[in-house]
Amino acid sequence: MTTVKKVAVIPGDGIGREIIPVALGVLESLQLPIEFQVFPYGGEYYLKTGITLDEDALDTLSDFDAIFLGAVGDPRVKPGILERGILLRLRFHFDMYVNLRPAKLIDERFTPLKNRETGDINLVFIRENAEGLYCGSGGFLYKNTPREVAVQEMINTYRGVERIIRYAFEYARGHGRKSVTLCDKSNVLTYAHDLWQRVFKKMGERYPEIKKKHEYVDAVAMKLVRSPEKFDVIVTPNLFGDILTDLTAELVGGLGLAASGNINPDGLSMFEPVHGSAPDIAGKGIANPLATILAGSMLLDFLGFKKEAKEIEVAVESAVRGGHVTPDMGGRLSTQQVGQWLINFLGGDDVVWF
Ligand code: NAD
Ligand code: IPM
Ligand code: MN
Repeated sequence: MTTVKKVAVIPGDGIGREIIPVALGVLESLQLPIEFQVFPYGGEYYLKTGITLDEDALDTLSDFDAIFLGAVGDPRVKPGILERGILLRLRFHFDMYVNLRPAKLIDERFTPLKNRETGDINLVFIRENAEGLYCGSGGFLYKNTPREVAVQEMINTYRGVERIIRYAFEYARGHGRKSVTLCDKSNVLTYAHDLWQRVFKKMGERYPEIKKKHEYVDAVAMKLVRSPEKFDVIVTPNLFGDILTDLTAELVGGLGLAASGNINPDGLSMFEPVHGSAPDIAGKGIANPLATILAGSMLLDFLGFKKEAKEIEVAVESAVRGGHVTPDMGGRLSTQQVGQWLINFLGGDDVVWF
């Protein structure tokens, strides 16, 4: 008997509501034993109810095999309410401590870099995803006075640092990767990142076949532009990983193509594009759905549908090479037309989109 997997879907806000139905169309065309259940969380729901996540939402979601998220962020809602109240709440509550963000150049046409050295751009960011500057620990003193003090604390625990560095080395070993670069700012953050340095050094001894490298985060930003092909696996704290993965996305075709997995290797994981709700293009039908579709491929891989995950990846690569893409990548197709192209490529029929 095949067990049916249950996936919770949160389209969220802005382009999330356009790209998720298209990505679901692609996933459903494969006719896998997966049941998708859509949840309404996002700006609209918050404005109507004053609630980011229902009281029983975390309980309900814990029964699912994975979460598939579009994006959250609504210009009508104060920044942070939806981002912290939905996205970060899920990452933290379910202890999704790995943020896996690959960046692979599919076709030379899509990098903005000129006079590039030869060699593939094919790197993976392993971003710490459950602590650092994202914990929400801090506060104000003397708020709204000239004496105001605003504190935002950066949390680095031995447990948190150890498990993400271990994951990076295990990932490298499991995927035939040659090197792991620790990207930190230990020359200034002499307590917090001293811990990262010590753990990296000690952990690295267990992986003799993998080259260990270290770069300060400012130099990583520079070297990613100068010679991205020299990077393989990069492990880094939460905030640095957030910033640098928008940069690496742009090196290989843009945010419209960058997928990510929020992974708890022993629990619930959530898959989403790297980008946000893109209010500037929402409602126009031109959002690039490929990042979300690739996140869907990561989700399938995670659920054990490895063959189908690969098929989607191959289909996306063909769409990109053939220029069957949205305007952000120089194409002329709409969000839905890209989805339809992929579904036909995968052997599916025409879809009536809503
Ligand atoms: P953004 O990623 O939404 O957009 C940045 C730029 O990239 C915009 O010009 C946008 O049009 C373009 N872009 C992004 N995705 C695209 C796609 N699929 N196709 C074509 N173009 C695309 O970042 P932002 O503008 O800084 O943030 C907008 C909102 O999204 C904010 O509320 C922010 O907090 C939120 N946000 C949410 C997530 C998430 O849910 N994971 C991630 C980042 C930002
Ligand atoms: C991302 C986003 C989030 C982050 C925000 C919206 C909380 O930028 O997933 O990259 O900073 O992690
Ligand atoms: Mn980000």
